Amino acid sequence: MKEGMNIINAEFIKSSEFADQCPEIDLPEFAFIGRSNVGKSSLINMLVRKKGMAKTSATPGKTRLINHFMVNSDQGNWLLVDLPGYGYAKSAKTDREKWSRMSKSYFDKREQLRCVFILIDVRLEPQKLDLDFIQRMTKEGIPFALVFTKSDKEKPGAVEFSVNRFVNSMSSEYVELPNIFLTSATKGTGRDRLLGFIQQNL
Ligand code: GTP
Ligand code: MG
Repeated sequence: MKEGMNIINAEFIKSSEFADQCPEIDLPEFAFIGRSNVGKSSLINMLVRKKGMAKTSATPGKTRLINHFMVNSDQGNWLLVDLPGYGYAKSAKTDREKWSRMSKSYFDKREQLRCVFILIDVRLEPQKLDLDFIQRMTKEGIPFALVFTKSDKEKPGAVEFSVNRFVNSMSSEYVELPNIFLTSATKGTGRDRLLGFIQQNL
C-alpha cells in the first residue's frame, strides 16, 4: 500500500466567474462547496496546512468567485477549488442569480472534476439547501462526498447523532451511501482520511 499523501506546496492560481475563465490546466480537480460560513476556506487551509491561503472570515459570503489552487504533492499534482457558498439568507437576489449561473457553468463544463466535497455543519439539523444540492449532484451524475465540519464544537456522541440524522434524512432516495468524512479545521481532524480519498481518486 502507498503511504499517505504529503503536500509539498499549495498556492492560489486565480479566481473566475465562469468555467470558461477557469485555469486551462489538465489536472484532477476536487471542489469544496457548502452553505456560507460552513468552514470551507478553513478546511482547505487545514488540508494543505497553509493558514490564510483561502480567505476565511466570520462574515458569511466572503468567497464569491471560483477560486483555484494548485496543490503539489508527492503523489502528483491536483487542483483544489473553493466554491462560493450557497444559500446565504441575506444575499441579494442578484447574488443568488449570479451563484446559479456560476455553478451551472462550473458543473456543466469542468470535465476534470473528480469529486465535490459537500460541507455540512455538524451542529445543524438537516438543511433543505444541502439536501437539494445533494439531489442535484446525484441527478447530474457528479461524484460527491459529505464532509461534516466543526466537529470540535460537539461531543462525539452528538456528532454521531447528527451524522445519522442527516443520513436518515436523505436515505430514502439513495441506494448507496456517499463517502462521509468528519472534520475539524481547528483540530486537524479528518485530514488524513480526506487526503487518502483524494489520493485514491487522482
Ligand atoms: P464563506 O466563504 O463566507 O462562505 O465561508 P466558509 O465556508 O469559507 O467559512 P470559513 O472557513 O470562512 O469559516 C467560517 C467561520 O467558522 C470562521 O469564523 C471560522 O473560524 C469558523 N470555523 C471554520 N471551521 C471551523 C472548525 O472546524 N472549528 C471551529 N471551531 N470553527 C471553525
Ligand atoms: Mg470561504
